[in-house]
Parts: sequence; structure tokens; C-alpha cells
Amino acid sequence: MANTIPDITLNDGNTIPQLGFGVYQIEPKDTVEAVGKALEIGYRHIDTAEMYGNEAEVGEAVRRSGLDRREVFVTSKLNNGFHRPDDARAAFDSTLAALKMDYVDLFLIHWPLPTLYDGDFVSTWRTLEEFRRDGRARSIGVSNFQVAHLERLAAEAEVVPAVNQIEVHPYFGNADVRAYGRAHGIPTEAWSPIAQGKVLDDPTLVDIAEELDRTVAQVVLRWHVQRGDIVFPKSTTPQRIEENFHIFDFDLDDATMERITGLDKGEAGRQGPNPDTFDYLPA
Ligand SMILES: NC(=O)c1ccc[n+]([C@@H]2O[C@H](COP(=O)([O-])OP(=O)(O)OC[C@H]3O[C@@H](n4cnc5c(N)ncnc54)[C@H](OP(=O)(O)O)[C@@H]3O)[C@@H](O)[C@H]2O)c1
Repeated sequence: MANTIPDITLNDGNTIPQLGFGVYQIEPKDTVEAVGKALEIGYRHIDTAEMYGNEAEVGEAVRRSGLDRREVFVTSKLNNGFHRPDDARAAFDSTLAALKMDYVDLFLIHWPLPTLYDGDFVSTWRTLEEFRRDGRARSIGVSNFQVAHLERLAAEAEVVPAVNQIEVHPYFGNADVRAYGRAHGIPTEAWSPIAQGKVLDDPTLVDIAEELDRTVAQVVLRWHVQRGDIVFPKSTTPQRIEENFHIFDFDLDDATMERITGLDKGEAGRQGPNPDTFDYLPA
């Protein structure tokens, strides 16, 4: 079986490679090398954010790769301090300037921040709609939006988000938000797909990996993609970047999928902050 990365078609007609490379917590000084390695291996989708402080290095790595800009799907995100429309416009200009690109493939509101900005993320979303209209964001979406936040956008805004990027891994299935996305044509992007390594020692997952002669990371990433989610594991270790890429040449049967889904601990499995209360503003 060939290891071909499928494209997922978004609700705006654009397509996104189902497997990408995440760069959260990659130091700027290490980013050109890590992203360069990922592109060399065959990744064609990079997930960054203004908050990660490495947009410039992501842009540099894409240019150095010699690939045509159109061959690489680049996502970035609006940082929490910039939700007011004028700030969002300036922040988006800065993102494109840092990347040295004239468009991003996907631009997201990083967090809904429902306890800040008088609870208004709708005017922020309408500002992202402008970026889509002027073509500088090919697709726009959200991150860390809960069902109530998505319902509010559906009621008050024009454009349905092209994706919702949320925490999902075997210990935190995030079932309600994923189900809302499935019902409304909003694919889920699963962040921290291996829970930053915390699921790798799980005895059930170790057993499955041994049975299949794969690594635990590969099994977990395979589980995500068979559920239809988009993933972008992060690593600065070349051998792991390579390993995480090889997840399209084997299958998990239904019983194995259910065993992994059954590891869900509900809210107790969440590793990151709860989007209903998260209110971090960078200095
Ligand atoms: N929207 C949001 O709010 C949000 C939040 C978090 C993350 N994200 C996005 O999602 C991406 C992925 O999530 P993440 O970076 O939090 O965590 P992750 O991808 O679940 O895990 C990354 C960690 O696992 C290790 N690792 C990677 N592959 C491995 C393998 N094959 N075997 C063993 N260990 C492995 C890495 O170590 P080494 O690097 O040392 O190899 C790193 O410590 C981020 O980079 C970012 O793009 C978005």
C-alpha cells in the first residue's frame, strides 16, 4: 500500500492535506531546519500561529525548500490580543509580512476568549471574512470553538468556518464538538494528536502497536485519520518526523478503532486549557 496523503475537501471547495506538520513550541532557531526536514520528507501542510513566534522561519523554510508556494498549505492564527477588528487587520498584515507570503491557505481565530472583548468574537470572525473576500486568506476557520460558539457564528455570521482546530487525542475525544462539526460540514483539526507524548505509554496502545508492528505514535495518528480528522504532529526529531509521516500504508480494523476510542477520559483527559474560560493575553 502506497503512503499517499489524502486531501480533505473543505466546505468552501478548497482542499487541505489531511496530514501536516505542527510547529508549536519549536524555537525560532530550530524552525527552519525542522520544517525543512518535514518538507523534504513530503509533508505539504504546515500549521503555525502568530503566538508561536516562528512564522518568519516557517516562511523561510518554505522558500528554501524550492517548492512552489502553491504546493505547500500554510495555516496561521490570530493571536489573542488582536480580536478587535482594526487590531485583527493589522495582525493579519503582520502575519503575511512575517511569512513573506501574499496569502495564507488558512487563517484561524486561535481562541474564542468568550470572557474577554464583551464576549464578542463575531466581529472578529467578520473581519476574517474580509481576508477571505480579498483573497489573502484562501480559507478561514476557528480554533478551540465550543458548540455554543459555533452556534453563535451560524446565527450571526455569513461564512461557515472551514475547520475547527480543537484538542483531540485518545484521552480526550472531544465528542460533542466533533459531532457538531460533522453535522455542519466543519472538519475537525485535532491538535496535540498524541497528547504531547502523554498517550505513548498507554498499555492498550502499546499492545496494539506491538500487534501491528508499528509505533504507538503511528497507531494513534492512524486512528485520527481513519476518523476523518486532520492532524499535524510536532517533532524536532528527524526520525520521528519521518515516522509520523508513514501512517497511510496500514489500516486499523473496527475493533481496534473502538478500543482506542474507548480510552477517552472525558473532561479529565483534557491536557490544554478549557476554551470556555481560557483568557490568556500575551504581554
Ligand atoms: N490551536 C491550538 O490551540 C493548538 C494547541 C496546541 C497545539 N496546536 C497545534 O497542533 C500541533 C501538534 O500539537 P502539539 O505540538 O501540542 O503536540 P503533539 O504533536 O501531540 O506532540 C508533540 C510532542 O510529542 C513528541 N513526539 C512527536 N512525535 C513523536 C513520536 N513519533 N514518538 C515519540 N514522541 C513524539 C515531540 O517530541 P520531539 O519534538 O522532541 O521529537 C513533542 O514533545 C502543534 O504543533 C500546533 O501546530 C494547536
